[in-house]
Amino acid sequence: MTSILVLNGPNLGRLGTREPDVYGSGTLDDLRAVLVEDAGDDTIDLRQTDDEGELLRWLHEAADTGAPVILNAGAWTHYSYAVRDAVSLVTAAGGTVVEVHLSNPHAREEFRHTSVLTAVATGVIAGFGFESYRLALAFIRRNAR
Ligand code: DQA
Repeated sequence: MTSILVLNGPNLGRLGTREPDVYGSGTLDDLRAVLVEDAGDDTIDLRQTDDEGELLRWLHEAADTGAPVILNAGAWTHYSYAVRDAVSLVTAAGGTVVEVHLSNPHAREEFRHTSVLTAVATGVIAGFGFESYRLALAFIRRNAR
């Protein structure tokens, strides 16, 4: 039995009411329920923060425990070298971090076309709504636990 961290960055606590045409109408609680259903005997530890330092500390925790991570870093994806370095310290130590996005950032504004995380993440899944997280979870359950 593995505990899988599902880490969500800024503004993702507003899912359900935040631009539902872009992000869907499901809430983070709905997402948690979907993932728990998929997780079998694995545990889903879903968290959200608007505080960058808190996300960094959760990634440090993953580096220490070896817990696989599904990460939606929200807008930090596009410019936070601190989050990138924290992702890197997990993956360089052999850990798994799957970068996910609900929307397809490449089909959106120019500033979203850059991810400073992808080069140090294990992989990236984007554009499938909650399915992005489900696909990441399926990968982790098959390959990284
Ligand atoms: C997002 C895409 C980002 O560009 C945006 O800042 C988010 C959500 C997504 O899941 O599609 O907050 O990561």
